[in-house]
Amino acid sequence: MFLIKSCLITLLCLISALAAGEQTTSGKEFQHTCSVDFEKQIHQDILINHCVACHTPDGEAKHTHFILSNDPGLEGALFNEQVIFDYDKPVEIIRKSNGKNHEGGKLLEQKNLSFQYLALFIYSNFVIEE
Ligand code: HEC
Repeated sequence: MFLIKSCLITLLCLISALAAGEQTTSGKEFQHTCSVDFEKQIHQDILINHCVACHTPDGEAKHTHFILSNDPGLEGALFNEQVIFDYDKPVEIIRKSNGKNHEGGKLLEQKNLSFQYLALFIYSNFVIEE
């Protein structure tokens, strides 16, 4: 689980997965052909840029179960990847980043490519039980 994936995602891959409506049930199927560069696209572009302002041990969201490292480097990325894998409601990470029932507000627009990378990362690494 500590592996940082660094394979390029293609837009085609994402579109076909979404078009097939597979993102909730069979993320595993496209995991091998379509993955996200966690350190760059999730850790730096999303967590560091949009989430660590509050989700740190001293931040506004310090009382939550989602406490991140604000180290932008590899160590921080490894730590934050583990935080995501240890978090028991992974879909909430997607929903809250989009402002759904989130005191921290809307950080990522749904049409934003970062939001789609985040959704792809979560759905391709977790079996989601609705
Ligand atoms: C302005 C401060 C702020 C920012 C920035 C922020 N959050 Fe939050 N977040 C909160 C607060 C406060 C809560 C607790 C109340 C709630 O659930 O909305 C929270 C709760 C959460 C939870 C639920 C944690 C739990 O205990 O189950 C998740 C998941 C989450 N945020 C994800 C994110 C993500 C992902 C980002 C970045 C894209 C982000 N937040 C950015 C303030 C923030």
